[in-house]
Amino acid sequence: MSSRTSSLLLFVLAFFGVFLQLATAAPLETRDVYAPPVLYPHAGTVWYTGQTHNVSWDVSSPPVNITNKVGLIYLRKGVTSTPLILADGFDILLGRIEVTVPWVFEGDDYSVVLMGDSGNWGQDFTIKQ
Ligand SMILES: *[C@@H]1O[C@H](CO)[C@@H](O)[C@H](O)[C@H]1NC(C)=O
Ligand SMILES: *[C@@H]1O[C@H](CO)[C@@H](O)[C@H](O)[C@H]1NC(C)=O
Repeated sequence: MSSRTSSLLLFVLAFFGVFLQLATAAPLETRDVYAPPVLYPHAGTVWYTGQTHNVSWDVSSPPVNITNKVGLIYLRKGVTSTPLILADGFDILLGRIEVTVPWVFEGDDYSVVLMGDSGNWGQDFTIKQ
């Protein structure tokens, strides 16, 4: 095995090690991971740059103890996260937050990612200019 291959292997092992730690650490704590499902925008939604819309999510069954109540919403295109933050610093239990549609290339594979403890994204929708 070349040293490059072995360092790559080490990296992969370390990478999965972190995931394993996260997966095994979670049940030991009394925290609840809260990632409420995004309701809007959904498939068929069309947003235009500059418009304001309410992103909404389901807050009907929050866990008793939410680790992180502060929400963050950003835009995803396809499977790629964009650095475009639409809203942050809001209470995740609000269930909706008004956002302004940023200038982006037109596309029909945008989705919003809602971050609380963990991430959750909605269905693909369209942004036009
Ligand atoms: C919620 O947190 C409180 C205080 O830390 C703890 O006593 C309680 O058992 C927790 N409840 C659940 C359902 O995890
Ligand atoms: C977003 O929701 C709030 C509260 O219901 C409402 O006052 C506001 O007009 C909504 N904004 C849009 C763009 O629909």
